[in-house]
Amino acid sequence: MISQNTINQVFETARVEEVIGDFVQLKKAGSNFKGLSPFSDERTPSFMVSPVKQIWKDFSSGKGGNVVAFLMEHEHFSYPEAIKYLAKKYNIEIEETEQTDEQKEKANERESMYLVSEFAQKYFIRILHNHEQGKAIGLTYFKERGFTDETIEKFQLGYALDQWDAFTSEAIKQGYQLEFLEKTGLTIVKEEKQFDRFKGRVLFPIHSMSGRVLGFGGRILTNDKKAAKYLNSPESEIYHKSKILYGIYQAKQTIAKEDNCYLVEGYTDVIQFHQRGIKNVVASSGTALTSEQIRLVNRLTKNITVLFDGDAAGMRASLRGIDLILEQGMNIKVCTFPEGEDPDSFAKQNSLEELTLYLEENARDFINFKANVLSEEASTDPVKKAETIRDIITSISKIPDNIKQEIYIKDCSRIMDISEEVLFSTLAQMQNSTIREANKKYKQKQKAFEVVKRQEQQVEKVNIQLVLEKKILEILLLYGNKEEDFVEYYLKENEDGELELERTLETNKVFKKIFLSLQEDEVEFTNELFQKIYFQIINKYNESEELKIETFVNQLEPEIASEVTSILMNEERYTLHQWDRQNIFVKQKEETVSQLVSENILSLRKQLLNQKIVELSEEVKENNESDNNNEHLQDIMDYLSLKKLISEKLNRVI
Ligand code: CTP
Ligand code: MN
Repeated sequence: MISQNTINQVFETARVEEVIGDFVQLKKAGSNFKGLSPFSDERTPSFMVSPVKQIWKDFSSGKGGNVVAFLMEHEHFSYPEAIKYLAKKYNIEIEETEQTDEQKEKANERESMYLVSEFAQKYFIRILHNHEQGKAIGLTYFKERGFTDETIEKFQLGYALDQWDAFTSEAIKQGYQLEFLEKTGLTIVKEEKQFDRFKGRVLFPIHSMSGRVLGFGGRILTNDKKAAKYLNSPESEIYHKSKILYGIYQAKQTIAKEDNCYLVEGYTDVIQFHQRGIKNVVASSGTALTSEQIRLVNRLTKNITVLFDGDAAGMRASLRGIDLILEQGMNIKVCTFPEGEDPDSFAKQNSLEELTLYLEENARDFINFKANVLSEEASTDPVKKAETIRDIITSISKIPDNIKQEIYIKDCSRIMDISEEVLFSTLAQMQNSTIREANKKYKQKQKAFEVVKRQEQQVEKVNIQLVLEKKILEILLLYGNKEEDFVEYYLKENEDGELELERTLETNKVFKKIFLSLQEDEVEFTNELFQKIYFQIINKYNESEELKIETFVNQLEPEIASEVTSILMNEERYTLHQWDRQNIFVKQKEETVSQLVSENILSLRKQLLNQKIVELSEEVKENNESDNNNEHLQDIMDYLSLKKLISEKLNRVI
């Protein structure tokens, strides 16, 4: 277990905007940062980070919380994993308290798989550098490929001994369980026997965006035609091939900074580019691209440059995958290398200047490139030409931006020597069918939506109360400790002995004022969670007369913390939409805090009176001529006049 001391230190040091900034491209927006939601596919930002409050909120998915909540949501870390990650990022030494056997058992499966993978990475590195065979075979191989010590270290490359179970028995000796060695695929278990999966291979660890080891790629060193050149970790709880891009951890900062990402095929392409000085590069590891992989990049930049090996067959297969990138609204360029070269060999043979110049001169817009390649192939074959047109228009139809579509149609018309009309009508046909499909889906959705909407409206009517309760919590959180002058009316005897209402100003802390007023009226929150939050806030103020939101949120249970975050970030929502640019002006809060408090408490009381009146009226109706009715009617009259009084006061406040 991590000591409380360490946890406190982590919370004191970690900055939510820095931590999230490693995963999401954030832009300054007033006192906050905003960016694209990492939890959904969106094109306009609805993700907010508040450096002042040290919390974040994703308005598209509703998720939100503190820095740890982000890591738990985004990286699927457990709580201790998140703390450890932050400790590492901020160079905080982790103090462990003794673990009981029971606690050890509880450490979940995923964590165990991460741990065994991390052990494996360290072990393979050690073998590469310290073991005779590692040095003679593994290290020599990397050196022959031209990798420097710095590169080998940066990509944490390793070597697995060419023995059946050297790694597995060492891992077990160190206390790692066979269960997790098998689940990560590091060990293959066959009838009581265990084998090292990567035996005799050099190893490329594959990292998550945040730098955890998820799996390995292992390259064989012999020319055995029967064995696969590369062997990868199998799919597992922690290794999902379709969601991983090799090199993303080492590249993410440069991708965001350069606002472009080079996409290559292999491990060695990534590494060789880095060594040459181009660091914004990732690899799909020889598989077809997936939209999840593109989403990883989309968070960092809108621009992708796909680099193709110099063999035509491979390229044509990959052209199709690129439509996926278009769909996500990204700008795509492609660049090919001379016959027989791949990014690895080209980077190795050329200087950084030459490589950069080559990329600049040869990177071409994807649609133009595709049109050129295809029309060359189809120039003599009319049937093929028709196919080609459909193919290219399919790509264009994926682009979400209409203006861009039009520009491309014009380009293609020129390149392929086909009239714009034909191209536009092909596009229209295609889109018509997709629009038809979309319409169908939309109608189905709408039906489902209607029901939801009606429910929501109902809920809303009943729940003015909830809105008011929430508002009170917001005031408490933001201004609870502020001292304000509150207007009070007291009954007083004047010189002539008559009773008079006297208006006085009373100074009080906001939280005390709220607490006293609610208690006086015996108001309780109808929402259980709100009631809990309310007491937590009041307790905190009573304890220390101070509530620092950053630390307060960190001490709450997850459910409460998430609600508090929602309440706090609610007002920030407006800065997201840039209403003023659309000529919609949101009413600014100009009232003083004391006005706000009075207004809310009065409204809440009014609301409660309303409820009472409704309840009583219904009873009167049901009871008909019963004796109680006179009493009830009198009560109703009283409540009504009280309500009138409150309404008057409320008018005065607003
Ligand atoms: N790959 C794989 N399994 C294979 C072959 C390839 O997973 N049997 C993946 C690897 O990620 C590899 C990429 O596809 O890096 C590209 O394959 P290839 O071009 O054959 O490998 P190179 O990276 O060029 O490898 P090398 O230069 O070491 O021969
Ligand atoms: Mn190669």
